[in-house]
Amino acid sequence: MILEIVKYPAKSLREKSSPVNNIDDIKELASNMYETMLKKDGVGLAAPQVGQNIRLIVINKEYSEDWALVNPEISFIDDEQDVLQEGCLSVPGVYGRVKRYKRVFLKALTIDNKVIEKSVEGFFARILQHEIDHLNGILFIDKVLPIDKKKVNEGLKELKEIKVDV
Ligand code: CO
Repeated sequence: MILEIVKYPAKSLREKSSPVNNIDDIKELASNMYETMLKKDGVGLAAPQVGQNIRLIVINKEYSEDWALVNPEISFIDDEQDVLQEGCLSVPGVYGRVKRYKRVFLKALTIDNKVIEKSVEGFFARILQHEIDHLNGILFIDKVLPIDKKKVNEGLKELKEIKVDV
């Protein structure tokens, strides 16, 4: 089932999400989120983006062997960062460059309740940082480089003027 995407400036995008207690309860939500992400050409999606403030994210299988991550946590391995342009399904039409860590250590549960503990890098590491930010009420627009700030703010102004129907 394709779900409605919550769009900026919805307040729920700014809330801290709660841990998932029972994975069986969110299996259907996770597969609907995955279907929605594919349909909208996204590489990742976090539960708050579909109106559920719980700690669940999905990631395109092209970038991660585990497509759903429950209660994901990351820690940083070293200081190395890189810059790449990002966008977000909840902030349509707005893009800006964001600096992120190149490598992170991931702890999470899979949708089959298996523990994942591993270091990840590259695009997967970037998607993870973006999606886990969503679980903490943080959007990529908060982290955009100063050089892109003006362009992003203009895009946000337009989004604020659109009546949000979710
Ligand atoms: Co996003």
